[in-house]
Amino acid sequence: MPAWKVPLADVIVTDDDLAAVTETYRSGWLSMGPRTEEFEQRFAAYTGAPHAFAVTNGTAALHLACMVAGLGPGDEAIVPSMTFVASANAIRYTGATAVFADVASLREPWLSAERVEAAITPRTKAIMAVDYGGHSGELAVLADLARDRGLVLLEDAAHAAGSRLGGRHLGTFGLVGAFSFFSNKNLAIGEGGMVITADDETAARLKLLRSHGMTTLTWDRHRGHASGYDVVDLGFNYRIDEPRAALASRRLERLDGENAARGRLDARYRERLQPLGVTCALPAAEGLESAHHLFAIVLDEGADRDAFRAALTERGVQTSVHYPPVHGFSIYADGAPELPLTESYGARAVTLPLFAHMTEQQQDLVVDAVGAALSTAAV
Ligand SMILES: Cc1ncc(COP(=O)(O)O)c(C=O)c1O
Repeated sequence: MPAWKVPLADVIVTDDDLAAVTETYRSGWLSMGPRTEEFEQRFAAYTGAPHAFAVTNGTAALHLACMVAGLGPGDEAIVPSMTFVASANAIRYTGATAVFADVASLREPWLSAERVEAAITPRTKAIMAVDYGGHSGELAVLADLARDRGLVLLEDAAHAAGSRLGGRHLGTFGLVGAFSFFSNKNLAIGEGGMVITADDETAARLKLLRSHGMTTLTWDRHRGHASGYDVVDLGFNYRIDEPRAALASRRLERLDGENAARGRLDARYRERLQPLGVTCALPAAEGLESAHHLFAIVLDEGADRDAFRAALTERGVQTSVHYPPVHGFSIYADGAPELPLTESYGARAVTLPLFAHMTEQQQDLVVDAVGAALSTAAV
């Protein structure tokens, strides 16, 4: 493993976090129980969503979202190709077809509402918006479009824990918001996820589907709140466990502060990179308080991105690409549409390091490395 001077992402686990996890292991109750309930209540209060259910990862959250949207064989759901493959896979798990629509522009790598509208057919049942990098993109327009066309809006909010638009949390704009707490996410716990909804019936079904379609939980029976159960739906085991829920509650307390620190670093990146002629993606938007999950730049057309990234690696700076377009992967390639902006962004974007405790010295090292790579490499 290269010794990165500046890794792409990093997480600090505090003594407080460790104490909460240790105390959970000592309690003797490890599978879903009181700490999960506490985390769900805190997350619901935090986001303003009436219902929140913690799950084992963000992909499970998306799968449940697609299930409660009623997606199935013969249905289509419109999704960006500029996302992690899990967004499209979750649609496909239900037997429905993921229909890819292009992004808004080279600096705005989220679903274009205009392109989504053009992709609607009589089989379209849902739109899955992805809050790329924690940005709301055209979410508000998509919500109106979905309402006007009788479609279900789902939100892949994996990047957006703590993002707000006009004070309203991302993840609350559609029927279901799905979050990820994977180790590189803003609320990192290793593996974990959450579904939130304002709809009572949807909430009841999400709860059932998370745990085998069973009407009671082991924890309910342990407390004497139930003695048996029925199975009323074909569900899954998508439960989280208590140590991760305990860690998540602790980390949630720090999320706004950490996102604000990311925001300051994001602004400082822009200040320093723009004089170098670097195009920064994800512009600020009115009313948006972003979680600043990612900081992405877009290289000039024809630039040698591999050489650029190799030059940064040489200086100890880790970079990544979010994302290789999903419609370019073999399992989605059949009949994939042309998505010129997605393809161009996918070929030219580079994600630079960003994490809450990144120092200004580390950030200067990244900026210097970018400047050097641009002037020396053939980019
Ligand atoms: C946009 C997006 N959707 C879905 C996921 C899936 O989440 P998880 O890795 O927790 O299953 C991720 C993260 O990995 C993601 O970045």
